[in-house]
Order: sequence, then C-alpha cells, then structure tokens
Amino acid sequence: MNTINVALPHNSYEIKVGAGILAQAGPWLKGIGFNGKAVIITDSNVRPLYADALSQSLAGAGFSVTLLEVPAGEAAKTLETAASLYDRLSEAYAERSTLILALGGGVIGDLAGFVAATYMRGTPYVQVPTSLLAMVDSSIGGKTAVDRGKLKNIVGAFYQPRMVIGDIATLKTLPPVELSNGMAEIIKMAGVYSEPLFDYLENNMSKAMGMDLAVLERVTVENDRLKAPVVERDEKETGTERIMLNYGHTVGHAVEAVSDFALKHGQAVAIGMVAENEIARRMGYLDSAAAKRMEKVIKAAGLPARPPALNIKKVMRAMQQDKKVLRGRVRFVLLKSIGEAFIADNVEPALVEEVLSRG
Ligand code: NAD
Ligand code: GLY
Repeated sequence: MNTINVALPHNSYEIKVGAGILAQAGPWLKGIGFNGKAVIITDSNVRPLYADALSQSLAGAGFSVTLLEVPAGEAAKTLETAASLYDRLSEAYAERSTLILALGGGVIGDLAGFVAATYMRGTPYVQVPTSLLAMVDSSIGGKTAVDRGKLKNIVGAFYQPRMVIGDIATLKTLPPVELSNGMAEIIKMAGVYSEPLFDYLENNMSKAMGMDLAVLERVTVENDRLKAPVVERDEKETGTERIMLNYGHTVGHAVEAVSDFALKHGQAVAIGMVAENEIARRMGYLDSAAAKRMEKVIKAAGLPARPPALNIKKVMRAMQQDKKVLRGRVRFVLLKSIGEAFIADNVEPALVEEVLSRG
C-alpha cells in the first residue's frame, strides 16, 4: 500500500493506493476524526460490485451508513441529478458534518464532490475511485462539476476531498475500454512530466492492458506522485502549472463535444495528444521520433490516434469555448520532448485546421 500526500495550506489529505484496501476505509476515516453518519454515493454499475464492501468497512468502524445510487454514465452528471441527491440527503437527515463518499468513476467523483461542495454550503467528502481514470486524475485535486447540455464541467467548484482511497483490485471488473480511457491520462502525465514513466509504459503496456495489477498499481502510484505536487503548487489553477495537465485536452475536449460524447474522454484526449504533437512538430518544437513513440504507446493502450469523421469547423468553434481560452486566444499545451511541456498561445487556427483535416 502506498500513501501520497497532497499538502495544501488548508486542505491537506492523503491518497492511498493499493490492492484490496477498500476494507480499511472505515478505520482510516475514523482515524482522521470522522464518525457518525456516512453517505455513499455510487452508480448503478459500481453499487452491486463494491458498495457492500465499503458499507461493511464503514459500519464496522461505527458509522451509520446510507447508500444513494444514480444511473451510471455521463448523462447523470447534471444539476438535476445533484438536486435529487440534495433531496435524498435531506430525507436521510444528513448534516453538515455527514461524510459523503464518492464510490465510482470520474462521473461519480465529480458529481458527489459537487454535491458535497454545495449541500449545506459544504460537507466533508472522500473519493473512492474505482475506474483507472478516476484513480489517476479526477479523484485528485478537488475539481468537482456537473455538465449543462453540451458544456462539460461548466458548473462546479474546487473542493478538496479529505482522503482518496484507490483500491487497485476494483479495476478487475473495469471494462477494457475504460482501462484504455484511464491509460490516456497516465500517458498524458508521462508526456508532460516524466520520460522514465513513459519508458515504463512503453515496456509494460501489454501487461497493463492485460490487467496486471502490480503494473497498474505502479503506474497509478507514479502518476499520482506527479499530480500531487502540481495540485499543491496551483490548487485552483490560478497559475500556469495546473494548465499543463490539459495537454491533449484543447483538441480533446472539442472533438469529445462535437462527437456528442460518442467519444469517451480518454479516447478524445488520445486524439488530442496526437494532434497537438503534430502541431508541435510542424511548429518545430517536437521531433518526429518523439511524436511517433507517443503515437505507438497510445495505440498500444487501445486508444484512437485520429479523430473520426467530424465537422472540423464545429471542432474549431468548440475550441473557442475551452476554459483555457485567454483573451480570445486558444491556448495549447505542447511538448518540446517527452517529459517537457509548455503553454503556447501562438498556434495559428489554420495550422490546427490543417492538422485535424489530415487523414
Ligand atoms: P465513469 O465514471 O462514467 O466510469 C466509466 C464506466 O465504468 C461507468 O459505466 C462506470 O459505472 C463503470 N465503472 C467504474 N468503475 C468500475 C469498476 N471498478 N468495475 C466496473 N465498472 C466500473 O467515467 P470515468 O472515465 O471514470 O470518468 C469520466 C468523468 O471524469 C468525466 O465526467 C470527466 O469529465 C471527469 N473527469 C474529471 C476530472 C477532474 O479533475 N475532476 C479529470 C478527468 C475527468
Ligand atoms: N484533470 C485536470 C486537473 O485536475 O487539473
């Protein structure tokens, strides 16, 4: 079992990563001072798999547990679902001190985190990620949100969890497409910050995709060790540090939206990384060998490297709505080499269109 600290001025917490650690949730949370009521928010896929184990651990540590389920999938990440959760929390007599546990993938983490941030002006919450994407990205750093129409994560809050408990053993039931999805964010992290992690991914991708839990644990831990200090240095993305985590996301978010979310987040980010590498290559920042290595790893993770047939004009327009747009300039995170990235706001729209139009 590994513990990674996220040290913040007011909201420090630990990320626990290991196989079979769900059973320790109750004692750990009691150990950091929680007791009384606990509400688990989960989805319809994850509930039958892991809600009992988490409930039993909490009950064994003396918590009185309520379980709230929402339908699985991005379509549930809305203000309407949040409103139904507020109602169900009231019916369960949840108080401001009641601990909320987000048990599931990134949808549940973002939704339950948003509910925790807003119910009674803020109740404590814990992330219990069960998808790889949630373990390596969404559960860490306090970004919570819901969607409105096609606008993803448009209503939300920065609200840090009190602990993150990532039980690697839960990945055993994750569909392969979701494993690929999470792998996209690990490849992103390695691309921006760590050639050694990238080398490891290159050499171990088939084991990881074959559900080798030791490999998955190692890449998750290394990834989280890279993300924690970024959150520490730029908790609310007011500086430039946290924006680096959006490598692949400028193009990625746009193709994801224009595909009407037929593309999953990780697939869109993979397409975004390949396109943004090509932009960096054509601008003379990244060499072809590095771009090719990256594309090979992306494909080995079962991810797409090219966008499906999409209306490019719509993709260009969607990019203008990106949260990274600053004074009308679309900002890109580009690689100089594997492990080194920078923010570019001088990318010509014509170049982006040309790259997206290539076969
Ligand atoms: P998800 O939560 O929809 O989970 C993917 C699917 O896997 C769902 O059907 C879910 O029910 C199922 N699932 C989860 N764990 C499982 C398990 N162990 N076994 C079997 N099935 C399981 O999607 P996701 O990819 O985890 O997260 C995507 C969401 O995360 C998006 O809404 C995205 O915007 C958000 N996100 C947030 C951040 C952030 O910083 N807050 C970062 C990246 C992504
Ligand atoms: N997922 C990007 C971030 O946490 O900032």
